[in-house]
Amino acid sequence: MLGARGGWQALRRCASLPRAQRAVRLRVREALGAREPAGEVKVQGWVRSVRSQKEVLFLHINDGSSLENLQVVADPSLENRDLTFGSAVEVQGKLVKSPHRKQNMEVKAETIHVVGPCDTWSFPLKTKERHPLEYVRQFPHLRCRNNTLGSLLRIRSEATAAIHSFFQDNGYVHIHTPIITSNDCEGAGELFQIEMSNEARESAEKTHFFNVPAFLTVSGQLHLEVMAGAFTHVFTFGPTFRAENSQSRRHLAEFYMVEAELSFTESLQDIMQVMEDLFKTATNTVLSKCPRDVELFHKYIAPAQKDRLEQMLKNKFVTISYNEAVEILKQASQTFTFKPEWGCDLQTEHEKYLVKHCGEIPVFVINYPYNLKPFYMRDNEDGPRHTVAAVDLLVPGIGELYGGSLREERLPFLESRLQRLGLTDAYQWYLDLRKFGSVPHGGFGMGFERYLQCILGVDNIRDVIPFPRFSHSCLL
Ligand code: 4AD
Ligand code: MG
Repeated sequence: MLGARGGWQALRRCASLPRAQRAVRLRVREALGAREPAGEVKVQGWVRSVRSQKEVLFLHINDGSSLENLQVVADPSLENRDLTFGSAVEVQGKLVKSPHRKQNMEVKAETIHVVGPCDTWSFPLKTKERHPLEYVRQFPHLRCRNNTLGSLLRIRSEATAAIHSFFQDNGYVHIHTPIITSNDCEGAGELFQIEMSNEARESAEKTHFFNVPAFLTVSGQLHLEVMAGAFTHVFTFGPTFRAENSQSRRHLAEFYMVEAELSFTESLQDIMQVMEDLFKTATNTVLSKCPRDVELFHKYIAPAQKDRLEQMLKNKFVTISYNEAVEILKQASQTFTFKPEWGCDLQTEHEKYLVKHCGEIPVFVINYPYNLKPFYMRDNEDGPRHTVAAVDLLVPGIGELYGGSLREERLPFLESRLQRLGLTDAYQWYLDLRKFGSVPHGGFGMGFERYLQCILGVDNIRDVIPFPRFSHSCLL
């Protein structure tokens, strides 16, 4: 995001220019954060309110650099028909100390130029209205001009940077894993297949573009494992696609996943420590970088979330085994729609109960049944194909935020598992990794949108993405 520094350097540089060229372009955030008044500034943005009084005209403009608007004070003679809520303007004038308590600086306008008018009657956003998230979701192309979505998208941008910094600061190499792939990493068959259009297929005279079926990736993990075999610690952070129930409040067909892979790691606890550190470090960075944006959510969207998040950050995450989880669920006084049974997947209702039972702080559930989890997870050898070294992190209000595991690095174990699944041919390259310098390793994936839901308390996952896709017919 913008620092006030760039603007100040620009202000200093322009002091020596002839007057006509002196106007320094300031972002709203820079203008609001300025320490001293300045002559000849230019601010561009979209009008958030117009208030015309007899003696004075007030404008509030926003350019996306901060939640706060910049107040512009002008002579009423500068008012014109096109100067309305939603219009794009360029204001030139002086940056002066504001007499109002709520803001430090304001612009005393000398000229106001309407760059792009806005028909307020048909514009779906209305001045001074706090539109519900459900309402603005109907306008995927306009909702970013609304305060809540503006804050969300700045937070999303800061959170992305914080996650990258966490890994870079800890010696991980960032890898761009493929988006088009031939593997179904999770083995759940929730794949979107890529095909040529009918037109292209006719001219190419072949069925598959790559000669084999190709899919949009469900996880970059297997490719990360390749790289962990050379760089030790690697991460990826990219789009991921799953053809699963896209109507739920925590599932998307297209979402972002943060994944890490660590070589020379024998203990699941080491992986869990990184998961916990990533969550806490990235969240603290976001809270310190955009406090006002986060405050908007904690004040107006999810009033209980501030305390909840503080508890998550303050306390050490809890660890329970899958066996313990099933016992807790079986003893619960609550009746579940899905009866808890050893060997069955934990449902959202179970995950929520477990988090509550553990005091509304994140809970690692480890060592899941062998048959519940994908082929790459490491056999715990606590019985014949009994459990694997898997971990899911469950968080308040959301349920599963992370999934991870130790990987099966032993060739004979992996070979026999792939054979039973009939996947040996497809995964020859993956088996190779176990033949040439195989090491104990493990990793995890965190759903980025669920992470944002978790820190902000947003109920519907469609409200933390730039472009909502709430129905299959709504593609922008
Ligand atoms: O638990 P998952 O399926 O784990 C993996 O894909 C591993 N291969 C990751 C790894 O170890 N490198 O997915 C990881 C996380 C989930 O915990 C969840 O937060 C998120 O990705 N996720 C989704 N988020 C939004 N919409 C969906 N449809 C999601 N599916 C998974
Ligand atoms: Mg999972």
